[in-house]
Amino acid sequence: MKILVIGSANIDITVKVDRFPEKGETIMGKGLHYAFGGKGANQAITVGKLGGDIVFLACVGDDAKGHELVQNLKENHVDVSHVKYSKNSPTGTAIINVDKNGDNTIAVVQGANLECNQAYILENEELFKECDYVLLQLEIPFDAVEEAILLAAKYNKKVILNPAPASAELNKEVYKHITYMTPNETESAIMANSKECDVLKNAQLLKEYGVQNVLVTLGEKGSLLYKDSNHQIEVPAIQVNAIDTVAAGDCYNGAFVKALAEGMNEEEAMKYASKASAIAVTRCGAQESIPTQEEMEAFGG
Ligand code: RIB
Repeated sequence: MKILVIGSANIDITVKVDRFPEKGETIMGKGLHYAFGGKGANQAITVGKLGGDIVFLACVGDDAKGHELVQNLKENHVDVSHVKYSKNSPTGTAIINVDKNGDNTIAVVQGANLECNQAYILENEELFKECDYVLLQLEIPFDAVEEAILLAAKYNKKVILNPAPASAELNKEVYKHITYMTPNETESAIMANSKECDVLKNAQLLKEYGVQNVLVTLGEKGSLLYKDSNHQIEVPAIQVNAIDTVAAGDCYNGAFVKALAEGMNEEEAMKYASKASAIAVTRCGAQESIPTQEEMEAFGG
């Protein structure tokens, strides 16, 4: 089955720090690392590395970094033949701090990602007919995300929305076409317009807005699929020594969809995705931290 991933592609500039700086404070970094990232590209490459059938829609700058990023996706089995090169904007850039616990803060300058817009999605309508699953995030303009969800619905395809970074601004009219929304705890509250910290209550609110299934990623506590108030599936996280959590969520999403596309049931797909992201957090960086199918098999479990 074919997976269409639509989303951002960035160059990640990561500084390792002992702790995050306070407001107004300067601290010394422990090292600087340039890598290929972006939530969309990370999810696309996850599917490619794991052996799935994947086509990617994104916009990068017509600059050296943009071309290198796309080449790396291609080398990892992602169909990049529809990726757009902007003449007007540079490739998106993410400035990331990773602390000694492996936690991170990220600020993204969207650059060319802003041209991954509604018009570009409409130009590529054919791809929606040919795919089975559409996987999206929120690092591109919302008109593109909303149009993609509507096109997926038009052709009766399954939609997975990873609402990162979360925003209450996404039009709630499209929620009913989302097969799986995959927020973390904080994102579930934002997407549900809720002040509650209760994961189950927020998942229920998202259901009331029309989302068909809510899959909440809970970090080291695992993940929870909320189908309705009587039917939930919990999968624990695999305990590992996490050194860098950048792209762990992206890896989970790409692996979950790849597993579904391969015919696994939801619980099996959650376990497969947990394993992929457990491997990813033991390595530095975004795309290079994501395991291949061979590495998944070698990990066991
Ligand atoms: O989810 C991790 C990603 O967020 C990074 O690769 C960075 O580019 C930002 O998009």
